[in-house]
Amino acid sequence: MKFFVDTANLDDIKSLAATGLLDGVTTNPSLVAKSGHSNFIELIREIASIVDGPVSAEVASTDFEPMLAEAKTLAKIAPHIAVKVPLTPAGLKVCKIMSDDGTMVNVTLCFSAAQAILAAKAGATFVSPFVGRLDDIGQNGMELIADICTIYNAYPKFRTEVLVASVRSPTHVVEAAKMGADVATIPPSVIRQLFGHPLTDKGLAQFVEDWKKTGQTIPV
Ligand code: G3P
Repeated sequence: MKFFVDTANLDDIKSLAATGLLDGVTTNPSLVAKSGHSNFIELIREIASIVDGPVSAEVASTDFEPMLAEAKTLAKIAPHIAVKVPLTPAGLKVCKIMSDDGTMVNVTLCFSAAQAILAAKAGATFVSPFVGRLDDIGQNGMELIADICTIYNAYPKFRTEVLVASVRSPTHVVEAAKMGADVATIPPSVIRQLFGHPLTDKGLAQFVEDWKKTGQTIPV
């Protein structure tokens, strides 16, 4: 399973990239606004210089023609940009054109299995079902992931990867992994939570204490 970080915060991206566990980055207009950066193109360029894997950069327009023009601009920033488009008729039209042209496309704001089928037919590299936002309205986000994995597995010609988005907890990540989802895009705070277990902390404290008792050091 690939781990993307869902942020536009450069400090978080740098520190998580340094772990060697990061496979890519996803951004969206809300995350860009939160980052406080005033030059979107430069921000994406900088993120793409930190991470080798796919960097999702989202279009701003909702109409087909301007969306396509923006998608082409974003794709030129770096070869590993995944242009992010909304799951709308215009977005899927842009997806098909850009995918046919060899650009990675991430189709975002997916909330149903029917929408995920359309994204695959449009040649999306990634489809982003939002699990947390479905949970927020009393639906089951992980059931949608299970449905999409089942459907995609039934059609080997569908090459679209399931990118689990709107992740809110380590449980979302583990459940997605059990279903065989290809990617999870995870907020920095949740990635850090993945490392933690109280028995790890307790066990390590004991090892450190016992090691001191030996009076030894490991030669370096
Ligand atoms: O980037 C798309 C998605 O991960 C957003 O998550 O937490 O705003 O629902 P959230």
